Amino acid sequence: MINKISIIGAGNVGATCAQRIADRGYADIVLVDIIEGLPQGKALDILESAPILSSDTRIIGTNSYQETANSDVVVITSGLTRKPDMSRDELLQANMNIVTEVTRNVVNYSPNCIIIMVTNPLDAMTHLAIHVSQFPRNRVFGLSGVLDTTRFRSFIAAELDVSVEDVFACVLGQHGEAMVIIPRLSTVCGVPITKLLPQETINKLVERTIRGGAEIVGLLKTGSAFYAPSAAVAQMVEAIILDKKQILPCATYLDGEYGIKDTVITVPVKLGRNGIEQIIELELTAKEKSALINSAKAVQQLVKTMKL
Ligand code: NAI
Ligand code: 2OP
Repeated sequence: MINKISIIGAGNVGATCAQRIADRGYADIVLVDIIEGLPQGKALDILESAPILSSDTRIIGTNSYQETANSDVVVITSGLTRKPDMSRDELLQANMNIVTEVTRNVVNYSPNCIIIMVTNPLDAMTHLAIHVSQFPRNRVFGLSGVLDTTRFRSFIAAELDVSVEDVFACVLGQHGEAMVIIPRLSTVCGVPITKLLPQETINKLVERTIRGGAEIVGLLKTGSAFYAPSAAVAQMVEAIILDKKQILPCATYLDGEYGIKDTVITVPVKLGRNGIEQIIELELTAKEKSALINSAKAVQQLVKTMKL
């Protein structure tokens, strides 16, 4: 197959992501993990489902990086997940070492790839991967906005009893407590939700979205969300591989856009075969802009502790 995608970390997000991409059948997949047998077993299981799904994807599992050579896209999901009552930021020290080592290996074998970061704390890990890889910012970005918006969209659709397909949501900023949700730009068939729902209801949906990851961690007790995250990554991969030029909110290194420099936060971008092909600058109110700047400050504080 002409497209090659490697997924590092064959845990919940990585393996489910591999399954979703394999089902679509447009790329070969290499699944990597440090646990012997885990990526091999999951890859074989996915491969054996391909005839039923009419997918000609070839998927292999491995504990080495050689097989990832010349990947078009590499998704990094390796790392620890948080436990109940833990913030994503508390994963920084452990996941920093993993992401550094993984990124070095990825770059060594696929110097021209596009990296999609998934490991938390997301914005800081994306910043770290840019630093370690020395790749331009259009080729290293992270999953956050696509997940956060799909959560908000599903809550809005349920509240208004409309199809999720008719709901668009605008979420910016950090993948964490400092997330910035813009109800004014979140719409149902073009109508802002501020005209469809009382402010009190909107506030509840916003709060639930900000705490969306924690809600699932609290229910699962071990591990964190992976069905919605893997669907979100698959959408990002598809936009790149199929050169869709799709506008999706991604954790992106800003260099002056929105008045923010040297910081990774979520903003809408155009995704295509070259990765980020355009950063979209929305017109924000003074209040929204100041919330975004505060969100960036939260990320900057965390990144500072990495002493890059
Ligand atoms: P998981 O625990 O199911 O899987 C993680 C896998 O990484 C394990 O199989 C582990 O063996 C592997 N791993 C650890 N060190 C490695 C290394 N050095 N090289 C290769 N593989 C290694 O965790 P899950 O649920 O898949 O989540 C993974 C990460 O993604 C976590 O940090 C989680 O917080 C984050 N996450 C981020 C989301 C986002 O929106 N950005 C959404 C969901 C998860
Ligand atoms: C989430 O929001 C774990 O960050 C991940 O579910």
